[in-house]
Formats: sequence, structure tokens, C-alpha cells
Amino acid sequence: MNTALINTIKNSFIAKFQIEPVMVFSPGRINIIGEHTDYNDGFVFPAAVNKGIVIAIGKSDSSISTAFAFDKQETIAFSLKNIKPLAQGSWQNYILGVVAEIQNRSKIVGNFNILFGGNIPSGAGMSSSAALENSVVFGLNEIFNLGLSKHDMILISQKAEHNYVGVKCGIMDQYASMFGIENNALLLDCRTVKSKPFEIDFKNHELILINTNVKHSLSDSAYNDRRSVCESIAGMLNVKALRDATEYDLESIKDKVTDENYQKALYVIQENDRVIKASKAIENRDLKALGSLIYASHDGLQNQYKVSCKELDFLVEQAKLNSHVLGARMMGGGFGGCTINLIAKTETESFKSQVSESYKNKFNLNCSIYSVELSNGTGLIKYN
Ligand code: GLA
Repeated sequence: MNTALINTIKNSFIAKFQIEPVMVFSPGRINIIGEHTDYNDGFVFPAAVNKGIVIAIGKSDSSISTAFAFDKQETIAFSLKNIKPLAQGSWQNYILGVVAEIQNRSKIVGNFNILFGGNIPSGAGMSSSAALENSVVFGLNEIFNLGLSKHDMILISQKAEHNYVGVKCGIMDQYASMFGIENNALLLDCRTVKSKPFEIDFKNHELILINTNVKHSLSDSAYNDRRSVCESIAGMLNVKALRDATEYDLESIKDKVTDENYQKALYVIQENDRVIKASKAIENRDLKALGSLIYASHDGLQNQYKVSCKELDFLVEQAKLNSHVLGARMMGGGFGGCTINLIAKTETESFKSQVSESYKNKFNLNCSIYSVELSNGTGLIKYN
């Protein structure tokens, strides 16, 4: 956790509102493998990281609540009665959405002030939105003693995203951000919403993220479209979700769906299988096998599920040219953001400079490269 960030958020809150706040940290996440499987009731393999959102929050005696986004220096004041999403809202809708979804559960939220900031690069596919939602619901639960469990909280965060942001996301991001465990990744079953932790120590290899620094528009509508294709094919197969279907089942309706949609469903079925294989590879310390699964995941996301973009594909191609990178793939929803790369530690520095240069030459744009530590999930920040 970043002490400078925590102090900035806390001191800015105190300067504005003259009371000691409750402080909460909620992390972003990476995902080793299992993309677009969560809303198909499938498996994913995320981990919380040491970058995230810090909030300072406290009760207010006023008849309105205020939220202040420190990084943007923007503020919103709102009444708790009749909350609605803002048509032009961005971060505001995450906060309004969480409040509204808590109210929908017949819990009473009083007026409050909140100030937040973070260090997750925006648009990186590292779930700054889930981190913000989780930190807000966690903070409100704390100051108003709402009695919500962490499971209740992630469902509230997810609903806020569905109803106030308009993205029909699965549960991976909110879960990983809330339940992360230091040095572990979580093999999460998105149907039971239960996970098994795997300690991640790749010895002489490590995971690094390379951010394309692009986020193509229309990603939200493309996301929702993918989800409805999956649901309609599950319906045709008479199963609850694609998690319940096999490639063989899918074959039986091949002539009833377009080839594009067939490939999308096939991707989901295969990716789900790859997640389980990846967990076995980690157990067996077989990093080559893990790396091949990661490359195969990208191939499916690019060619079957069609959620990649030329910048992500280029970074994965660069990784493939280097035999010390065992696997690379786009991470998160797609259409921009980061690739995740499994690389030999001794080669990281030279790969970083090579890839930065070739990316710059190709797109006239800088990529950013990060190492992350796997961290604990959402919680109170204790300070004196
Ligand atoms: C976004 C969503 C998640 C998940 C990923 C793709 O991050 O919020 O629920 O679907 O995309 O795996």
C-alpha cells in the first residue's frame, strides 16, 4: 500500500470536512487466465494487487452527501432521496450506484462525505471500477453499521455496475478485489462464488503487465453483446450457462448459429477448460504448460471471441518472439488495457526495453510496464 497516497487522501479529507475519516483500501486485480468466463458461471484465476483505490469517508450532518474525486479534482453533491444515474456521469455513477443498491436492500444510509484517489492506471483492465465500488460499499457498511457481509458487498458492487454504469459484468473483479490474499491467486468458481487460493511463487519467473495505453470506445456495448450471445446459446442448449456445455453439445447446434457466434461459445467452453488446466500446471510447477495455456487464451480472445485489438496483439506477438516469455495474453474485458506476461526474471529488463522501443516505433505511443505484488483484498486502513 502506498503511504503517500493514503496520507494525501486522509489529509485532504480532513482539510475539507474537519473530521477524522474512516480509511479503506480496495485493490485492483490481475487475472492469470479465464477471461469472459465469469458471466458464464465458469472459472477464473485472478489476484488482488498492491495498486488500488483509497477512500476517506465519514458521516455528515448536512442534508446532502458529497463525493470528491481527488485525482480529477471533481466533486458531486447529491441527496440520498431518489438517486438516479447521471447521464454524463463517470466515477459519480459508481458511487451513486452503490448507494442506490444498498438502499434497494432496505438498509438505511445516512448522509456522508467521501474523498478518494488511487494508483490503478485507468483503462488498464485492472478493475479500478470494482475497487472503487468495493471501497465505497465497505466504507458505508463501516460507518453506518449496515451489517453487510463481504459477499453481500460484492453483489451490491456488481449490481451498481450493471444498473448505474451499464456494464453487465460478471463477479470476477469485485470478488478478487474484496477477497484477495497476499501472495496468492484465487481459482474462483463463479457459480458457487467460492475460491481456492494458490500461492504464487514462480521462482525464477515473474508476471509483468504491459499497458497498451489505449482504450477503444464501444468496449461496453461489445461486452454486453458478447454476454447476450453466450446466454442465447446456453438457452439453445438448454443449459443454465455455457459452463454446463461441452464442445460436443455445441457441435449439435452448429447449423443453427452463425459461425461467429459458434466460435464465441466455443472459446468460452475452451477457456473454462484452460483455467482448470492452468491451476494444475501451477500445482505441478509446470510453467511451460501454464505459458502455453496463456498464449492459447490470447489466441481465442483475438480470433474467436474477438475482444482484442491491434495494440494488444502486437504486444503478444513481441512476447512470442522472445523464448524467455513463456506466455502472454490480453487481460480483462479487452479492446485495450494490459497484457499479462510470464517471463524469466533475468530477461525482464531487456524485454522491457525491446518491447517499449518496438511498440513506440509501431504505434508512435509509449506503452507502460508494471510489476505488481499480489495483495490482500478490501479492508480498513489502520493508522494513528
Ligand atoms: C471485465 C468484467 C469482468 C470479466 C472481464 C473479462 O473485467 O468486469 O466481470 O467479465 O471483463 O474476463
